[in-house]
Amino acid sequence: MEAPACDRARAVRLNRHEKPVPLDLSHHYSVVTKRRVPSKIKEAYKFFQIPGILNIAGGSSQTAKPERWTPSPNHPSESTASSSSSSSDPAAASHISVPKTLDESDPLKKIDLATALQYGLAQGYPPLLSWVRQFTRENLHPDTPYRDGPEVVLTCGSTDGFSKTLNLFVDQWTEGINDISERPGMLCEPYVYTNVLSQAQPLGVQVVPVKADPSGMAVGGPGGLEDVLANWDTSKGKRPHLMYTVTLGHNPTGIVLSVERKKEIYAVCSKYDVIIVEDEPYWYLQFPSAAAEEAKSRDQPPPPPVTPHKASRSSGYPFLDSLTPSFLAIDVDGRVVRLDTFSKTVAPGCRLGWITSQPALAERFERISEATTQQPSGFVQGLISELVLGGGSASSKQHNQRARSAFARLLTSRDQAAFAGWDTSGWVRWLEGLRGSYERRMARMCRTLDAGSHLLTTSPVVSSSSSSVKGDDENDEWSPLQAISKTRLYSYAWPRGGMFIWLRVHLEAHPLWMVPCPNPRFPPVLGGPLLSAALMVWLTTKPFLVLVATGSMFSADDAIREEEGWAYYRICFAAEAEENVDRAAERFVEGVHKFWAVRDVRVIEKLLGELSATGEVEETGIGEDVTRMGWFMGC
Ligand SMILES: Cc1ncc(COP(=O)(O)O)c(C=O)c1O
Repeated sequence: MEAPACDRARAVRLNRHEKPVPLDLSHHYSVVTKRRVPSKIKEAYKFFQIPGILNIAGGSSQTAKPERWTPSPNHPSESTASSSSSSSDPAAASHISVPKTLDESDPLKKIDLATALQYGLAQGYPPLLSWVRQFTRENLHPDTPYRDGPEVVLTCGSTDGFSKTLNLFVDQWTEGINDISERPGMLCEPYVYTNVLSQAQPLGVQVVPVKADPSGMAVGGPGGLEDVLANWDTSKGKRPHLMYTVTLGHNPTGIVLSVERKKEIYAVCSKYDVIIVEDEPYWYLQFPSAAAEEAKSRDQPPPPPVTPHKASRSSGYPFLDSLTPSFLAIDVDGRVVRLDTFSKTVAPGCRLGWITSQPALAERFERISEATTQQPSGFVQGLISELVLGGGSASSKQHNQRARSAFARLLTSRDQAAFAGWDTSGWVRWLEGLRGSYERRMARMCRTLDAGSHLLTTSPVVSSSSSSVKGDDENDEWSPLQAISKTRLYSYAWPRGGMFIWLRVHLEAHPLWMVPCPNPRFPPVLGGPLLSAALMVWLTTKPFLVLVATGSMFSADDAIREEEGWAYYRICFAAEAEENVDRAAERFVEGVHKFWAVRDVRVIEKLLGELSATGEVEETGIGEDVTRMGWFMGC
């Protein structure tokens, strides 16, 4: 029998004493692996590396500076207190020591590398697990309605938490192998954190976007939750049994879902037996001043005062009590799985978080962890334990002492008196400070964006009594015979939480909107998706040099992407250093204004060429390119 061609080729190469080329083993790949699509990371890198670019596309957070000790107050009128950004001597906060060994018999207090670096419990490193459990049950969700309350399992971050959630609730589905009636479905908002889609879709999960209004996922009306579930067409797959949602500072829309809306959504999920996966990396970043400051910035009457939610049981911390409660607070059935992470409160590279759920589900998550990640990294668990449990070891006592004296001159006398180093109250103070710092950044960026939201153009007035127009080019300065027209370039609501501003750019008002395209590679007229992608690239060019994410990257499906997703842009006010916040917003405004002056279709074509490695413009590929870049940029 003759050897297969690939083996013969291999033998020839070996004979020549060359190192063999590894075999192509892709025929062994699982269906899920085959379905994974590459991220357009290489294309994205091109933009990241532009010298001087301000990257406000991604969702990474900045480390908080010492002024975090001045949290933003809950009363809107006080919220504009400027952040005195003296970042001098943050040295006391710049290191944490974890001893190699510790002579401590209580395993919940023994924070040392000798124990943290052993194989350990899948649920988590005991001191950290016990702190997270207590913090979750007593402070974050003190009033969970089901008996004995929720349990927690540590994860390697929320991305890992979601992967484990899919592992628990989803059977992989493959067209041609499984019956369509078995196809799992997942409900979500129309715009979604992209990584969730790239995890669920290769498993065969049908992503089912539910209509949303400015307050979040809609319950009633056509396309609302009740409508989708009540009128589910089983010929398209199983009625969805899973919902993915971000309720506080939604990524990318910045919406905070009210308790009232949560109750309505919960009732429908309960009726149709849907598991709610609540992913909350931005949980602490709720901005009480946003509505009032937005009205002030836009010369609108102040909004009616909102009655703050009154928790049935206090968390013990006014700051935590002030946050809109989780779905867990109304979870009588035990159908909520909540994902938390240290990514936005300590650092994305921690890869540490936790799942909160009813105990039976937590037990399943533990089994999944045992068989997959085993446990989060011991180094990180040791480090975070030391951070949040402060005072648990001799080294941290010493550290707190140093921190107290280093911060003394940065703190108000009231804060000095309250400063007790880290522990739960220190952690809550840190979270409140982060909220304050991001709230101030958000307000600054929004004021700049508000100021630049319109384009003012002058045009000659043609009076009915005169056919000739006064004011030719040279005399085009302000004159009574000129009319000023005001074009709204974009609109948006100030985010009520999170790290993102979600703008709708009115590309329909662009001078090149729907103009004929001479290039045969283009569609006959210039529509939204192309203009939108061109604007994104335009903003990365000199002198603007600012990178933003487009709504195509977050659209839950192609229909949303094509219908309107292209019109949106997400701007992150957390990603760049404090001193770049204003500059980034100014550059964005200037870039959009100047984009309106582009009148030549060839300029747009050139910009679009930048999106693909070859520089060739292919209309169909543009949306896909931008979408995949989002998998990297859109975190
Ligand atoms: C909604 C949402 N979930 C999860 C994550 C990632 O969390 P982690 O770093 O814990 O995996 C992000 C990051 O941007 C996010 O926006």
